[in-house]
Amino acid sequence: MQRFEIVGGNRLKGTIEIDGAKNSALPIMAATILLEGETVLKNVPDLADVRQMQALLARLGVKTHRDENGAMHIRVEDEMNTHAEYELVSKMRASVCVMGPLLAKRRKAQVSMPGGCAIGSRPIDMHVAGLQAFGADFELVNGDVLLRAKKLRGSEIFLGGPFGSSVTATANVMMAGVLAGGRTVIAAAACEPEIVDLADFLNACGARITGQGTPQITIDGVETLKGTEHRVVPDRIEAGTYMIAAAITNGDLELQGARLEHMQAFVDRLRRIGVIVERYEKGVTVSSARRLEAIEVTTQPYPGFPTDLQAQLTALLCLADGNSIVTEKIFPDRFLHIGELARMGAHVRKEGPTVIIEGVKRLVGAQVMASDLRASAALVLAGLVAKGTTCVHRAYHIDRGYQRIEEKLAGVGASIRRLQE
Ligand code: EPZ
Repeated sequence: MQRFEIVGGNRLKGTIEIDGAKNSALPIMAATILLEGETVLKNVPDLADVRQMQALLARLGVKTHRDENGAMHIRVEDEMNTHAEYELVSKMRASVCVMGPLLAKRRKAQVSMPGGCAIGSRPIDMHVAGLQAFGADFELVNGDVLLRAKKLRGSEIFLGGPFGSSVTATANVMMAGVLAGGRTVIAAAACEPEIVDLADFLNACGARITGQGTPQITIDGVETLKGTEHRVVPDRIEAGTYMIAAAITNGDLELQGARLEHMQAFVDRLRRIGVIVERYEKGVTVSSARRLEAIEVTTQPYPGFPTDLQAQLTALLCLADGNSIVTEKIFPDRFLHIGELARMGAHVRKEGPTVIIEGVKRLVGAQVMASDLRASAALVLAGLVAKGTTCVHRAYHIDRGYQRIEEKLAGVGASIRRLQE
């Protein structure tokens, strides 16, 4: 196991290059199950979750390799296996994205139910209902979802749930619809930029999708889809995390490749706090006034404030002037960072899906434990400004979603090291 050791107090200054979006690369990699011929994906981040998806695809007869420039070459070589087994799916929830493509291309999908995870139970009822709407038969076999269909027929599919739409269920239904007979209309579809990127990729392969980025997506099924070359969109969550690193250290960063248009709700909150965010020709610059205002924020489906940046913003608000209120509407249990921030001197109190944060003058370094991917990033951010040394144990949680985080932060002046436990 590894840990990050951070000595707080350095103001960050310089440029960080933003990688491709994990949550776009993963469904697009799953979508290659649908294709004939070779696909070349550029800007795919080298993350633990991406390597996990490569391992799952290999089991499903899809070969992947990176060339000397880092581009990922993907080709289906064997369509026999349709079973995504527990030992692979249990490690990464996004494995569920192979369900739609397997059903559409191989007429059968047996995918282990992803268990719960650090941010709560992660049901897939919306995925199954969405795929059944194409006429697929469903049964539960030893904890696996088993879906079969002779031919998928397009239909009207409603994807609204108790917490809004579902991002990966929208991806699964879209990836089934592109090879289904006739027209599919998805109502209450997720609008995330990663869904738009997946739809654009599928259209480049010959699919006929319109409405991506809006709550209604229309798909006219086609017979075959061919591999293409595609560059994955930049990671708005990675960019947001480093924007907070600039704000929390009262630094001044250029985030090369960040797209402000994908981060409007997040940037609106940062600006209310007093953080200066501006576009420049290569991305976004971020600096902050010394004094941080307390605010109220509630996470929502896109284009609302993203749940994946809630923990990171909470860390920043621990140092704001006054009381802030953070409400988590997507994953109500997504507060594993709260206890650890309190160990660093934060005054935070959880009341159901809401956290009340009383700003303090300073945080103090401590031994803290990583858990959920984004909660762990929040602890690193707190360590950047805390007085003294912070050790964030179980670094692997962070490696799932951030490529070389310690190198990127050290490159702009942070005192951070990765150590063997
Ligand atoms: C995607 O997860 C992201 N992962 C998550 O990012 C992100 O937090 C989440 O969307 C919300 O934005 C990927 O894209 C790989 P949902 P997903 O289905 O699709 C409930 C990260 O840190 N729900 O949109 O799994 C669900 O419990 C990860 O990078 C059902 O009830 O999330 C949640 O409350 C974490 N039934 C809400 O909907 C279902 O069948 C939204 O979940 C599906 C979801």
